[in-house]
Amino acid sequence: MVSRVIPVDPFDLVIFGGTGDLARRKILPGLYRRFEAGQMTADSRIIGAARGDLTEDAFRALVAESIAEFVPKARQDKAVIGAFLQRLHYIAIDAKGDGGWAQLKEVQRDGVVKAFYFSVAPALFGDIAERLKSHGIAGRDARVVVEKPFGRDLASARALNETLRQHFKEDQIYRIDHYLGKETVQNLMAVRFANILFEPLWKAEYIDHVQITVAETVGVEGRGAYYDTSGAMRDMVQNHLMQLLCLIAMEPPYHFDPDAVRDEKLKVIRALDPVGPDAIVRGQYLAGGGQGGYLDDSENPDSRTESYIALKAHISNWRWKGTPFYLRTGKRLRARASEIAVTFKEPPHSIFDDAEGWRENVLVIRLQPNEGMNLMMMIKEPGPGGMRLMQVPLDMSFADALGADHEEVPDAYERLIMDVIRGNQTLFMRGDEVEAAWAWADPIIAGWETRADRPQAYDAGSSGPEDALMLLHRDGRRWREIR
Ligand code: BG6
Repeated sequence: MVSRVIPVDPFDLVIFGGTGDLARRKILPGLYRRFEAGQMTADSRIIGAARGDLTEDAFRALVAESIAEFVPKARQDKAVIGAFLQRLHYIAIDAKGDGGWAQLKEVQRDGVVKAFYFSVAPALFGDIAERLKSHGIAGRDARVVVEKPFGRDLASARALNETLRQHFKEDQIYRIDHYLGKETVQNLMAVRFANILFEPLWKAEYIDHVQITVAETVGVEGRGAYYDTSGAMRDMVQNHLMQLLCLIAMEPPYHFDPDAVRDEKLKVIRALDPVGPDAIVRGQYLAGGGQGGYLDDSENPDSRTESYIALKAHISNWRWKGTPFYLRTGKRLRARASEIAVTFKEPPHSIFDDAEGWRENVLVIRLQPNEGMNLMMMIKEPGPGGMRLMQVPLDMSFADALGADHEEVPDAYERLIMDVIRGNQTLFMRGDEVEAAWAWADPIIAGWETRADRPQAYDAGSSGPEDALMLLHRDGRRWREIR
């Protein structure tokens, strides 16, 4: 199997915040990889735009450094890097003033896709959008890309949407949730909707519960100041875990088409029940393993921000009434492991006497690392001695199943940027989707803020706070081990 790379149309991509952290770590190395793969053609241009007074050569040197740092060595080809750097330009621009805009206008050309990446603080979205319009740089065919955090609550998300919509139509706005760009996350839709196997069982009648886990080993490191305004609920649950929940729980869309998919995701979010304090556990990591605790990483020694959260969600619709969805995510946990585990119910009647050997069927979809799928099945324990049962995994590792193609898989940002150029919004969040997710998250956050709850401390390298175990024990269930 050879991966097929289809070149995208020639484009001009302007990156506001072109010298910033995200541009250096993800956007520019990702563009290089697409160039190297032959997907970005040589008549495309990338224009870095930022406040600093850099020369074009200095910008190219900066990008060369980030390629050296963030692109795997095997993919660094001197000649290709040289050709890629030729595609780069730089304009010093003042988002809040006049500087640079006339120059940006001057370099515009017709007949190419025009995209503008707002890799800047959301407070600047309005200023940039307005200037793109007033200088006649971005017309009806332009696309704008915005990053998370998209607001910090419903009111601010609405305000951001209004600001963007003053200048652009919804079909021009690409809101990134990088989880949707992950190959394994997209695979959730293929597994559900390209196989007949699971769909008839995909409902409360047959599914006992679902666990969604995104565990990280890293702490908040240098991001304490941002993280204190966010916490795991805003940073991960409202967006990334919510997207995973939607893809697992949504009805089959009539077509793999941007609005058809997003309409179905929106219905899931709107059907979510409020989550009461008994169904939430918040945690904060302690020092350990030679590293400081959350309070050392935070700028506030008394911070009540959670670095871990576990909660039980219910979806009130015909398909899911009664099936709990347990979500958890946290930093400084035992292992980096993201997975979705769907636990099925017992068969209606057992013909075997070996009740002890019986275990539920579980479908585990590993998102990262060691991407793959596992279906825990019951079989007969081999050998004489009667009919005893045992559980074995039907195991598929994508690395084994796909071989070299698996290594070719583009990173989430590469995929998403190419989708912007192709004009495909399927893997981007629509404005109403983001607002609905905040409408669900807001009262949950307001609950612990008004109660002034403190998160429960947990050991670095553990699987999270004790109370999170209790959240499932109370329901007669257990979390899967994080490993
Ligand atoms: C980001 C969060 O959106 O996602 C980070 O701000 C988090 O806190 C990261 O570490 C996780 O992404 P990934 O791709 O490493 O799972």
